[in-house]
Amino acid sequence: MKIFIDSADIEEIRTVFENGICDGVTTNPTLVARTGQDFKSALTQIVNIVPGPVSAEVIATDYKEMLKEAEELIKIGNNVVIKIPLTLDGLRACKILTGKGIKTNMTLCFTTLQALLAARAGATYVSTFVGRLEDVGENGIKLVSDIKTLFSMHKIDTKILAASIRSQEHVKEVALAGADAATIPFKIFDQLYRHPLTDKGIAQFLDDWKKADQNKILFS
Ligand code: E4P
Repeated sequence: MKIFIDSADIEEIRTVFENGICDGVTTNPTLVARTGQDFKSALTQIVNIVPGPVSAEVIATDYKEMLKEAEELIKIGNNVVIKIPLTLDGLRACKILTGKGIKTNMTLCFTTLQALLAARAGATYVSTFVGRLEDVGENGIKLVSDIKTLFSMHKIDTKILAASIRSQEHVKEVALAGADAATIPFKIFDQLYRHPLTDKGIAQFLDDWKKADQNKILFS
C-alpha cells in the first residue's frame, strides 16, 4: 500500500518527502484554506517538491465548470491529479477527463456503488472517507474491503485511496482491507514508525557496544 500525505502545508510535505516515506499528496479546499496561501501558489510549490501524484480538488459543482478548473490545474504540473466530488456532474467530468488521458481522484466516496460508478467513469483513484463514516456510526474499513472485493472480482484497475484517516490503527486496517494507498495527516506519520521498544532496544545495543569497546576495533 502506498502512503500519501493529506496536507497542503509546504513544510509538512517537504519533511515527509525528504524522509523518503511518502509517495504522493492529497489536498482539499479545507486544507488549502488552512494554509492561508492562495491555491495556485501552494500547488505550484507542492508539485515542485513531489515527484508522485498530487491531488488538487475542483470547487465547481457543475461539470462544465469542473472541466474549466481542471484545465487550469493540470497546467500547474504533469503530476496533478484532478480531484472531483462523487456527484453526477463529477462522474460526467471524470469520464471526459479520463478520455483526455487526465488522471482523476473521485472524492467523498461513502458507498460501494459510488465506487463502482467512479470506476465506470474511469477514475484513477476513488477516495473512501473512513473517519467520516465512523463519525456517523458506519464502518469505513468494511467499505474499503467491500470495494476491494468488488474491484478484484471485476478486474477494475481504479485504485482505492483510503482517506479521512484519523489514527495509526486506521492505517493498519485499511492496508489489511486492501487499499492501494492511504492518505494520512502529518501528525500520524510520526506515530507509524515510533515504538518504545525500538528506542529501548537501540539504547541497550549502544550501551552493550560501548561496554565491549567495539568502536576501537571497528574504526582502528
Ligand atoms: C481526502 O482526500 C481528504 O482530504 C481527507 O482525507 C479528509 O479527511 P477528514 O475527514 O479528516 O477531513
